[in-house]
Amino acid sequence: MIRRLHPIAGGLSLATILVFWLSTVASELSGSSPIIVAVKQAIPWGFLLLVPAIAVAGASGFRLGKGWRGPLVAAKRRRMPIIALNGICVLVPCALALAYLSSEGRFDSLFYIVQAVELIAGAGNMLLMALSLRDGLRIRHRQA
Ligand code: HEM
Repeated sequence: MIRRLHPIAGGLSLATILVFWLSTVASELSGSSPIIVAVKQAIPWGFLLLVPAIAVAGASGFRLGKGWRGPLVAAKRRRMPIIALNGICVLVPCALALAYLSSEGRFDSLFYIVQAVELIAGAGNMLLMALSLRDGLRIRHRQA
């Protein structure tokens, strides 16, 4: 059960951030304020999916990795707190600030500084999650 749940939660976490990231970039490239506002308002609702998915991926991962000593599991174990802290301390506050600023029509330098921080932090988390996904698949292939 937990072995099934873990890759689903991990894959869902990565996919959700990817959708946030791509829809943000697409809305900015569209240059349309109503589209940017709609995307910025929608992203905090997406946390209702993302936050539990990351929590389940992390908790199930640590459970599965108990007692494993290999370097792949060690790397996954090291990355997870960075993913979680980046999410809680950077991505969530940035997304809430951007939802607020966009609802006020404030597309000023503060908006774009926060937006840049969010895109960079989001890309960082996607990279760490993609590395953990790759290592998970490697672990499975080694077992097979
Ligand atoms: C967002 C982060 C993570 C993602 C995207 C992820 C993804 C995956 C994937 C795709 C697999 C392959 C499972 C399969 O195909 O059956 C896997 C396996 C595994 N993961 Fe993760 N993982 C994450 C975090 C973690 C963490 C924090 C740990 C804890 C150290 C961990 C430990 C493991 C272990 C031990 C396996 C092998 C399970 C088995 O086959 O018995 N993962 N992971």
